[in-house]
Amino acid sequence: MKRDFLSLKDYSSQDIENLLNLAKQLKVNPRQTSDYLRGKSFALIFQKPSNRTRVSFETGIYQLGGNAIYLGPDDIDLGKREPTSDIARTLSRYVDGIVARVFSHDDIMDLARCATVPVINGLSDLSHPCQAMADIFTIQEVFTNLKGLKMAYVGDGNNMVNSLLLACAKVGAHISVATPKGYEPNAAYVRLAQQAAEKTGTSIVLTNSPQEAIKGAQVVYTDTWVSMGQEEETARRFKDFRSYQIDEKLVSLAEKNYIFMHCLPAHRGQEVTASVIDGPHSVIFDQAENRLHMQKAIMVFLYTFKHS
Ligand code: CP
Ligand code: NVA
Repeated sequence: MKRDFLSLKDYSSQDIENLLNLAKQLKVNPRQTSDYLRGKSFALIFQKPSNRTRVSFETGIYQLGGNAIYLGPDDIDLGKREPTSDIARTLSRYVDGIVARVFSHDDIMDLARCATVPVINGLSDLSHPCQAMADIFTIQEVFTNLKGLKMAYVGDGNNMVNSLLLACAKVGAHISVATPKGYEPNAAYVRLAQQAAEKTGTSIVLTNSPQEAIKGAQVVYTDTWVSMGQEEETARRFKDFRSYQIDEKLVSLAEKNYIFMHCLPAHRGQEVTASVIDGPHSVIFDQAENRLHMQKAIMVFLYTFKHS
């Protein structure tokens, strides 16, 4: 029986806590698990560009003693050169795990269903769980206790906030999401997050007001207004998101000790001003670094699970 890492909806609060603890250990002692993936290979399927995800996975696999094989759009064109199911079955005969960055979330579900090895979601149009886990880890490093903290997410109701909704609800943090009308997070993710929030006693607020969302928040988060694959909508999105920029005035409503977060890549002058993202409250490169430690924890967890 294998386990995948496709969405935080499949991970309990306890699983998330275990991953946070494991990532912490790995960060303190990065060479502790240099044997976990010895002699093992991971296929990294990327249908979209990447800096952080690709490099942190390749480096993490190397640090765990394994081997990463990058497969870009020219190598594997999911569903076009051959069916996704055949790709999954073929790769499962060679490698011990698959990381995939895809356009449609259905592609990652197909890969996981047909592969006999663990599949990890390296971003789909619906979710970005590795980033959300690294983000929660980063917040824990700053504030120690996640319970009762408030995250404000301002901007597009995209893959990033879908995963943050679940992550916050499951660790006991409140989250307020401000989007323009028509750009709300995925309704199914909101429902799942609300169910999780009921258990942990936290609140989920959806609003159109960035001011309302940010008021009293310890964590201020934003992401690009135009995600990969939405380039044709750029002009309309710039117009619709005009009043959703994170600037000094907006963050003055947050708690004094707030942190600013962004999964990157960022666009200074669009979703955030340079003064905020490059200012003293920004933890963006800690988030980026923590992708490495958290993804190593995820791989160790899946591999241990597979063999237990
Ligand atoms: N945050 C993130 O996933 O970055 P990349 O697109 O560079 O991988
Ligand atoms: N929402 C962004 C995240 C990039 C890491 C995108 O999908 O392009």
